[in-house]
Amino acid sequence: MTVQPKISIRDFSFFFGKQQVIQSINLDIYEHEIFTLFGPANSGTTTLLRALNRLSDLMPGVRTEGQILIDGQSIHAEDMIVTELRRRVGMVFEEPVPLPMSIFDNIAYGPRMRGIRNKAVLAERVEESLKLAVLWDEVKDRLHTSALRLSGGQQQRLCIARILSLGPEIMMLDRPCAALDPISTAKIEETLILLKKKVTIVLIPHNIQQAVRVADRAGFMLMGEMVEQGLAKQIFTVPEDIRTNDYITGRFG
Ligand SMILES: Nc1ncnc2c1ncn2[C@@H]1O[C@H](COP(=O)(O)OP(=O)(O)OP(=O)(O)O)[C@@H](O)[C@H]1O
Ligand SMILES: [Mg+2]
Repeated sequence: MTVQPKISIRDFSFFFGKQQVIQSINLDIYEHEIFTLFGPANSGTTTLLRALNRLSDLMPGVRTEGQILIDGQSIHAEDMIVTELRRRVGMVFEEPVPLPMSIFDNIAYGPRMRGIRNKAVLAERVEESLKLAVLWDEVKDRLHTSALRLSGGQQQRLCIARILSLGPEIMMLDRPCAALDPISTAKIEETLILLKKKVTIVLIPHNIQQAVRVADRAGFMLMGEMVEQGLAKQIFTVPEDIRTNDYITGRFG
């Protein structure tokens, strides 16, 4: 039996004006895995993530070639509803940015925007999302206080809960722990490992150590090229490409 990839990237290229920043890459990402996309500065990792939910449509002068399929369906198909795509494929950024409102309202914001008004339903959605983001126990007694008073690590889990409240299938995280201390980082990593049962995770780690700790599979990007992809165990111990080896052993980047 062959398993259909959750995400299939086929001969995908990305251009900012005349500059090509992704060089015809091919990549499959499967359900219930943590796939880490790593590489030195300007490799195109963030650009690839933004292309996956068409956030990059919002940038001027952008052009793409090739295909990105989710569950076998092209994200560029004419009948693809982009707002729905962005609900299914959520994105968490390096700096957590809670809205200046209560913890409860931060999580309820998305569901409310989608027309859910029933208080009990909203409360349930908030609780469920906070539990999945492993934040519930820390905040359940102060849901109506400002989210801005949470620690950095808690704010990042709040941002994860906010995405989860929309019932995504894929969660993309771009260096979610770059601004966090090691204890908060460990907490986020534990959360991601629990979450992969529920959503497919694509992670740009802030260092190789993080990728080694959480990745099931990984892809190494260099100047827009997908140099090597495969099982994390293999890539981080016996990479096939000399460039991957040089990078993970700290010879450049
Ligand atoms: N809005 C933009 N307009 C033009 N070029 C851009 C834009 N954003 C990124 N680029 C270029 O695209 C290339 C890939 O950038 P990208 O941000 O995807 O790299 P990255 O792998 O995320 O790197 P970093 O480690 O710095 O986060 C770089 O050469 C960058 O200069
Ligand atoms: Mg980046």
